[in-house]
This record gives sequence, structure tokens and C-alpha cells, in this order.
Amino acid sequence: MAACGVGLLIRLSLRVQRSQVQRPLRRLLSCPGTVAADLRREEQSSGNAETGSEDRTPKKRFSVVQNERREQAQRTVLIHCPNNINEKKFLKFLSQHGPVNTHFFYESFGLYAVVEFCQKESVTSLQNITRTPSLGPEAAIPFKSRYFNLKLRTSVNQTSELSSIQCSNQSSPSSKKLYQLLCCAESVDDQLNTLLREFQLTEENTRLRYLTCSLIEDVAAAYFPDCAVRPFGSSVNSFGKLGCDLDMFLDLDEIGKFTAQKTSGNFLMEFQVKNVPSERVATQKILSVIGECLDQFGPGCVGVQRILNARCPLVRFSHQASGFQCDLTANNRIALKSSELLYMYGALDSRVRALVFSVRCWARAHSLTSSIPGAWITNFSLTMMVIFFLQRRSPPILPTLDYLKTLADAEDKCIIEGHNCTFVRDLNRIKPSGNTETLELLLKEFFEYFGNFAFNKNSINIRQGREQNKPESSPLHIQNPFETSLNISKNVSQSQLQKFVDLARESAWILHQEGKDRPSPSSNQPWGLAALLLPSVTNNVPLSKKKKKPASERIKNLLDSIKSSGAENSTATNGRRAISTQA
Ligand code: GTP
Ligand code: MG
Repeated sequence: MAACGVGLLIRLSLRVQRSQVQRPLRRLLSCPGTVAADLRREEQSSGNAETGSEDRTPKKRFSVVQNERREQAQRTVLIHCPNNINEKKFLKFLSQHGPVNTHFFYESFGLYAVVEFCQKESVTSLQNITRTPSLGPEAAIPFKSRYFNLKLRTSVNQTSELSSIQCSNQSSPSSKKLYQLLCCAESVDDQLNTLLREFQLTEENTRLRYLTCSLIEDVAAAYFPDCAVRPFGSSVNSFGKLGCDLDMFLDLDEIGKFTAQKTSGNFLMEFQVKNVPSERVATQKILSVIGECLDQFGPGCVGVQRILNARCPLVRFSHQASGFQCDLTANNRIALKSSELLYMYGALDSRVRALVFSVRCWARAHSLTSSIPGAWITNFSLTMMVIFFLQRRSPPILPTLDYLKTLADAEDKCIIEGHNCTFVRDLNRIKPSGNTETLELLLKEFFEYFGNFAFNKNSINIRQGREQNKPESSPLHIQNPFETSLNISKNVSQSQLQKFVDLARESAWILHQEGKDRPSPSSNQPWGLAALLLPSVTNNVPLSKKKKKPASERIKNLLDSIKSSGAENSTATNGRRAISTQA
């Protein structure tokens, strides 16, 4: 590809932080379908959360977003750079292989650049001039990936130019910063929107997630050339927090489709294949081989564990360069469909994501959720609870899954492994809710609702949007929306559920009291959401003892201790008074 001037070639740089970059982007590009247009839509939809969903911007289908992002990732490379790199010269060097569409830098045990070319051929051109390193006494496994290491031929002192590189932030704000932001907010609604803005995945982080999947796809493609590795879960369902894991799904269905299209006439060609006793065994065998491959040849893939006997077999590993903890599954199409459903719910009303993020952060701050599997409530279950609660409002803020099914047309029909997963996929066909309740009210009511929910006899069911009798005796029953005989919270113990209920009641009480007597913003006292994220004073007291103490006394103690320790101490990370929201 002929070299052109860098100024013309670099159409859009994402190298500065999101908050700084969005304004110039808006001026630069206004055509639909561009990254800037997407960003603008995101900005709008998170900015108008006070009342109903008045945002009438046409919203993209999940599959369209997934396909666009995947294609974008295939034109993208990841480069480990020397710290003293000169950005201008770096881009000029890359543009010899074709125009660069966007790029950004980030830090993760070194400096990395994510570079998206305009054309796929540029990646091949770059690969063609790249050498396999000689490592002295060690030997390299020659794998031509899209993850490169850039070295400077001569070590030039470029300190003066170093300052020009701005790195995109890939992590959530510190407890201290979050605390300050929440305390400076104008209202509880503002607090919830602030928390969403600070924790949601940035454009750059999302790109890095799709790129990581694409890099893993290159490895898997060595065995299955037409496979796709697709992200699912919170990386794509719009509820992902910076730092959340990267759930991937090895999709081999395209291979079957391709051969079916090629078949014609009276002849039917089939591949000779090996047969195994069940789909599960096939999945285990495939993941075993891909896991081995990632372990032996996957650049940057470390700590590879093959967890093949789990209910959903998976390969778990760390992708060092991106810093993502990855879970690779196969034959997991229903989970992808669940992600699409959550994406739809998140996009239908701007209050949904703000509420889900706050509830997730609240649960994490009080150790109701954990990154270690166990008897805890999961983020997925919490999201279902928020959706269910919003379906129960009057008028409802979210429609039921059964209603979404009635809006579906023939193209939306989707049956996976005998389960009906049909629902309308065009967001623009769903009427916005007329409900105008504030986030503050919704948060308080959420805690009140679940603080008094009859968990002993009722099940949460987003398909019908109403409580149902529990079909089994698990403490918490949340019906799996597609595999309706399954309970997604079967793992939750009675004591964990009780802890959730106690904390929900306490939080409802705090918000209720504050409604009457809110500390002034200048008093430096944690209030609203900030107060809810502080560890409960009763956290370590056995439940039986807690019940004896009147709630008012507990809250008084909490507020007294906040007053006496002051704002400075409240932000200290000594584990006692820090707001802990990290996943
Ligand atoms: P994070 O905690 O931010 O990672 O949220 P997440 O939604 O990505 O959850 P997780 O990584 O645990 O699971 C990934 C996806 O798998 C979820 O979004 C669901 O689509 C699906 N999933 C998780 N747990 C269950 C479950 O118990 N049952 C079913 N059917 N699907 C689940
Ligand atoms: Mg996840």
C-alpha cells in the first residue's frame, strides 16, 4: 500500500480519554454508522436518564453491532511499544501498509497501541515485513499473529516527545475519586448517572475486548478456519463494568451453514468426520484442543486452565496484553441470546443501566457478589432482579419477555436446542414507557421491594413479569428466561439471601431517612448513593443479634461514625471505610 501523509491518513484518533475525546469527535464526524455517531448516541442515552426514554435516536440491533465490531477488530492489530516511542513517526511507519482509521495507546505492564487499519490487507502487509524474534538460547514458536512487538533499531533519546502520548484509561476510578464524584453530585439521580459514566466500558475498552476475541479466533482458526469467537456476557450486554471478565464463545455454526449453501442438484456432499457420543463430549474435545493450542502457541495467553467437567465446559486464561481474564466456551448459543436480550433491555430506557450499575456496585461493596464462584448472588441474577422490578412498576418501565415475543416477526424466530428464544430484535419497534419515575425513587423502591419480597414462596420471572410459585425449594429462584425449567440462582444459600434482604432493607431505610433530612453537599458527609456504598456497620454481626437492635439505632451509629471520621477518613483505603466497588 502506498505511503501517504499521516495527517490525511489518521482519520480518527482515540488516544485520549473518553471524556476528552468525545467533543472533538462530534465535530469531526456526523455520518450515521461511524464510531463517532455511535459514541454520540451512547452519550445521549446515558445523559437523559431523569425521566422516561425520550431518546428517539434509532438504535442498532445487537447483531449489527456485533458484526460491525467483529469486522473492525479483524482490521486491527495490537502492538507492544517501547516507552519512548514517537507517535507521529510510529503512525507514519504503519501507514506504509495502508491508511490507519483509528488508534489509541494504553498501559498494562508496558505501553500498547491498538491500531485499526482501513483495510484488512494492511494487516497482512504488516505481517509480511515482521520477523520472528531470535531469543538467544531459547527458541520461539513461529506463530504469525496480529499481536506484535515493536523495537527501535537505534535507541534515540525521545524524552521530549514522550509527553505527547496519552494513554486511554482501562480501569474504573479509585474509591477515593468515586467518593468525591458522588459527594459532589447534585442529586441522587446525578449520582447514579455519574457512577454509570465512570464504570461503564469505554469505547477503547470495548474495542480491546473485540480485538482480544479476534486474536483468539486466529488461534482457533488453525483448526476451524470458518469459526468465530464472539464476546458475550457483560462485555456486550451493556452492563459491563471496567475490569469485568471477557466471556467468549467459540461459534462453529458458520462452518455448517457455508457447506449447506454450496450444495446443489441431486448430490449431497458431506465431510467425513469423527463421531463422539454427545454434543457435550464434542464441546469438551474441541475446547481441550483449543485450550492446549492457546497454552502452547497463543501469544500473551497465560495461566490456561481447562475446566471441561463444569456444567458449561470452558477454558479460562489471562490475556496478558489486554489484562482481561477470559472464559472461552463453545456451544453456548443461549448465553449469547441472553446477552442480546439484556442489551435490548439496557437500550430500551436510559434508567435501566444506571440502576443496574448502582445495584451491582452496591452488592459488590457489601460482598454480596464475588469474583470467586460460590453461594453468592451473581451479577447476572442481580440484573434479572432489576429488570423484573422495572417490569413491576406502574406503568411498567420494561416490557415482559412474553410481550417482546408477541412483537417478533418470522425473521426473529429462534429455537436453540429445543428452547424458544424468540423475541423482537428491532429496538425501534418497542414503544417507550410512559413512566417518569426518578432514579432516586426507583433505587429506594428496589430495595424496599426486594427487602420485603416473599422469596420463600415466589419465583422471579422476567418472561411473565410477575411472581410465580417457586417450582423448587432453593432459597432464591430466578427463572432462566430461555431454559425455563432452570433456576439461574440455584447456587445462592439461605444466609446469602438473608444478607441481601437485610442490606436491602437497611439501604431503603437510609434513602428514606435522607429524603427527609439530606446532609448539605458542603458538609462533606457521604450521602445518597455514597452512603449506600459504605460497608454496613452490622456487616460482621450475626443476624440474630442484628435483629434485636432497632434499625434506627443502627443507622444512627452509622451516621455518627461517618460524622466523626470525617470525609478524609472515609476515602482511606484501609478496608474499613473505603467504598469498595471493584469486581
Ligand atoms: P460479570 O459479573 O460482569 O462478568 O457479568 P456477566 O453477565 O458477564 O456474568 P458471567 O460472566 O458470570 O456470565 C456470562 C454470561 O453467561 C451471562 O451474561 C449470562 O448470559 C450467562 N450466564 C451466567 N450465569 C448463568 C446461569 O446461571 N444460567 C444461565 N443460563 N446463563 C448464565
Ligand atoms: Mg462476565
